[in-house]
Amino acid sequence: MCGIVGYIGQKQAYPILLEGLKRLEYRGYDSAGVALQQDHEGRLAVIKAKGRIADLEAMTAGRDLSGTLGIAHTRWATHGAPNDVNAHPHADMSGKLAVVHNGIIENWSALRQLLEQEGVKFRSETDTEVLAHLFARAYKGDLEKAVQEGLREVRGAYGIAVIHADRPDVLVAARNGSPLIIGVGEGEYIVASDASAIIEHTTNVIYLEDREMATLRRDGLRTSTVDAIPTHKEVQQVEWSLEQIEKKCYPHFMLKEIMEQAESLSDSMRGRLDAETGEVVLGGVRDVSKQLTHARRVILTACGTAWHAGLVGEYLFEDIARVQTEVDYASEFRYRNPIIDEGTIVIAISQSGETADTLAAVREAKLKGALCLGIVNVVGSTIARETDAGVYLHCGPEIGVASTKAFTSQLVVLIMTSMYLGRRRHLAPYHAREIIKGLQAVPDLVRHVLKLNDAIRDVAARYKDCPNWLYLGRGYNYPVALEGALKLKEISYVHAEGLPAAEMKHGPIALITEGMPVVFLANKGLQYDKVLSNMEEVRSRGGHIIAVATEGDKEVARLAKHVVSVPDVPEPFQPILNVVPLQLLAYHVAVMRGCAVDKPRNLAKSVTVE
Ligand code: G6P
Repeated sequence: MCGIVGYIGQKQAYPILLEGLKRLEYRGYDSAGVALQQDHEGRLAVIKAKGRIADLEAMTAGRDLSGTLGIAHTRWATHGAPNDVNAHPHADMSGKLAVVHNGIIENWSALRQLLEQEGVKFRSETDTEVLAHLFARAYKGDLEKAVQEGLREVRGAYGIAVIHADRPDVLVAARNGSPLIIGVGEGEYIVASDASAIIEHTTNVIYLEDREMATLRRDGLRTSTVDAIPTHKEVQQVEWSLEQIEKKCYPHFMLKEIMEQAESLSDSMRGRLDAETGEVVLGGVRDVSKQLTHARRVILTACGTAWHAGLVGEYLFEDIARVQTEVDYASEFRYRNPIIDEGTIVIAISQSGETADTLAAVREAKLKGALCLGIVNVVGSTIARETDAGVYLHCGPEIGVASTKAFTSQLVVLIMTSMYLGRRRHLAPYHAREIIKGLQAVPDLVRHVLKLNDAIRDVAARYKDCPNWLYLGRGYNYPVALEGALKLKEISYVHAEGLPAAEMKHGPIALITEGMPVVFLANKGLQYDKVLSNMEEVRSRGGHIIAVATEGDKEVARLAKHVVSVPDVPEPFQPILNVVPLQLLAYHVAVMRGCAVDKPRNLAKSVTVE
């Protein structure tokens, strides 16, 4: 999704902006641009182009890009095609005011008509350009006031940064529904839509709230609501280090993140499990533990991979906490007028904590009086702040667009949360101790599974050109089948479908042809025999079975063309081990097909618009 970086300080802005944009590349984008205040000439230099940041860099080679104030952007098209003109920044007619924007201005069309009637000539097809003209119209020498006035007419979501050629001393930033963070340095500020563009410079940050804005000068900042009511902000610390977000020796962030899952899972559990007493310590939900104890219904809501984690959560909450549980796509939940009564707990799951639909679902649930919990990775993100309580994933920054380590950490956090509820309801300490011991062994078992990387690469090489794949599993492994198929689709652009294995007979079996790869999750467990029957059905139709199975399983070996053996663990833990080979399989297929693994086409890391 779009990325924003802005700088005001003593240093040259351009290299800082460019570096910041590169750190945001992982969010996905189709064009990039920068606007610099060049005070020696009292004008703005605006350079923007469709394509990669490297293309922008090539275009600017040899140009005078000096200046200590500037804004920059990576765009992911919503209104208007990805091209040079629609790329941000957008300027007003005089070319003196420039704005970068994340989000969507809902009433842009009406505003555009109004402005056109007043004689404004638009250059682009974007909603953002409306902002530049609105601010310019209101500008009478005070940029802060102009932005305030302009925003009053705007409906929709925005994170923006604005500069003016005649105001070399000011950068104005504002947010509503789209994240914006201000890095606080010595005599300088960096504005960004994501902390990863800031932490190289400072870990001191200020998070803007919805309908809040900041006016940044080299000697200080002022914050207010967009209605000009002053606000007071605390400087907070970002937890992530630069090292954590760098690729280390891996060719892709995705591979790095898959490979570090043993550590990230330990990080998610650290300090939270007591194997002696059977207690789970979750500081973030302590204040609401009474309401959790008496919960009658849990609704898990999320999007994408996080929704798959929610599906596993449904099994976990019903098995371990014995509470009625439903899972809903956040985009459906928010518009369905859901019934929420006293005793309903809504849990939003989100890696980024910024997904627009998940955030809207939280707001809808809160409006209806539900207690809202967040299972979120990014500390200080909007969902983390707006939920009543929550449990952080603590799995470190996830940069690859395809979610991997966040998924396994979501599973671990869901296990811990269901145990937290379970212990307060019916779960005996001795049973809780057993689960905890099992859970604590998982990171080492994941390490073991990761050693199968070479064997999985061989399987990928064998099937990389197949155009259709099926992924099948039952019970706890049904969501894993969905997640395995999603990973393949996302990064290798190969069609794949994930299903509960029993559903195969109700239609998808018609797709099976000689040599079609069918991935089965076939661990020993309650439905093992049923899965074997499904495998027979696929084999007899010529499908090539790639099975994830329990170590030493001879039955599966007889039926499958390829077996990936994983350690025997209780069913609630199987998704964590099983998804790892599927992540690796998707990764290798994508690499072999020459796909941009970390930046898959059309996808964004964090979908902050509907
Ligand atoms: C996008 C990403 C997915 C992610 C989903 C939800 O679609 O590409 O990887 O699962 O958003 O994101 P969240 O940050 O809310 O977990």
